[in-house]
Amino acid sequence: MTDLLVARLRAAGCVFAEDEAALLRAEAGGVRLEDLVVRRVAGEPLESVLGWVELDGMRLRVGPGCFVPRRRTLLLARAAIAASPSTLVELCCGVAPVAALVARARPGVRVHASDLDPVPLELARANLAGHDGAVHRDLFAALPPSLRGQIDVLAANAPYVPTEQIAMMPPEARVHEPAHALDGGRDGLDLHRRVAAEAPRWLRPGGVLLIETSVRQAPGTAATCAAAGLDPEILRDEELDATAVRAVLPAGASPETAATR
Ligand SMILES: C[S@@+](CC[C@H](N)C(=O)[O-])C[C@H]1O[C@@H](n2cnc3c(N)ncnc32)[C@H](O)[C@@H]1O
Repeated sequence: MTDLLVARLRAAGCVFAEDEAALLRAEAGGVRLEDLVVRRVAGEPLESVLGWVELDGMRLRVGPGCFVPRRRTLLLARAAIAASPSTLVELCCGVAPVAALVARARPGVRVHASDLDPVPLELARANLAGHDGAVHRDLFAALPPSLRGQIDVLAANAPYVPTEQIAMMPPEARVHEPAHALDGGRDGLDLHRRVAAEAPRWLRPGGVLLIETSVRQAPGTAATCAAAGLDPEILRDEELDATAVRAVLPAGASPETAATR
C-alpha cells in the first residue's frame, strides 16, 4: 500500500523520504503531524522541523531561524576536546554545538558561548543547561573581562561562505537559515580576520584558536591567524569532509604583549 506521507515528502524533493516520514511521525506523537509535514514540504530543514539534531550521540535543540549544526563541525568539537580545556569559549555559537559537546566530554570545564543573534542563543542556553556554561550576545564584546588572557580554547564556526556563493546554496540553507549565519563577506574570511585579530588578547599563552573553514579557504584562514601572531596548522578530516585551522598562541606571549598586537 502506498504511504501517502512518504509520497508527499518524495514529491517535495526529500531524498530519504521513508526515514523522514518515520522521524516526523515519531516526533508528532500522532497529534501535530500535518503541521510538521507542511513545514517540511515547504523546504524547512528536517532538523528545524523536528526541533533537534543529533551529533556524536548528543541531541541538541534547534529551531526555525537558526543555523542547524552540521556533522563536519565535529572536527572543531573533537579538536577542542583533545585540548582538555578548563575554559572554552565558542564564538558565533549558534545553538552552541561545540560548547555542548565539550561540556559533555569534559565534566568541570567552564564554557562560554556568544552570538549576535538572540534566536539561537535561547537554544544555546537550553543546550548548555546542566553544565557550567554562560551565553553572551555578541562576538567578544560581551565576554567577561576576567577571561582576558585566560581562555584555553577559542572555537569558532563563523560564517565563511563568500557573499557571491550564497545564491548557489541549497534552498534549505539559503531560504531557511539567516543570511548573517552564512555570509562571510567578499572572500568569506571577514569574521576569520576579526576573530584571529582579537584572539591573542583572550587566549592564555599556549591556548588554542580553532576555526572551521573550507579546503579552498584554509590557507587564507591560516594566514589571518599567522598575521595575528598565532602558529597555525590546517586540520583535515576526510570522513567528516571537514577542514579547520588550529592556531596556538606561542607560550612566550604574555596577555600584555598580546594586547598590544
Ligand atoms: C555558520 S553559523 C554557525 C553556528 C554554530 N557555530 C554551529 O556550528 O552550528 C554562524 C553563526 O555566527 C553568528 N554570527 C554572524 N556574525 C556574527 C558576529 N558579527 N558576531 C557574533 N556572531 C555572529 C550567526 O548568528 C550564526 O549563529
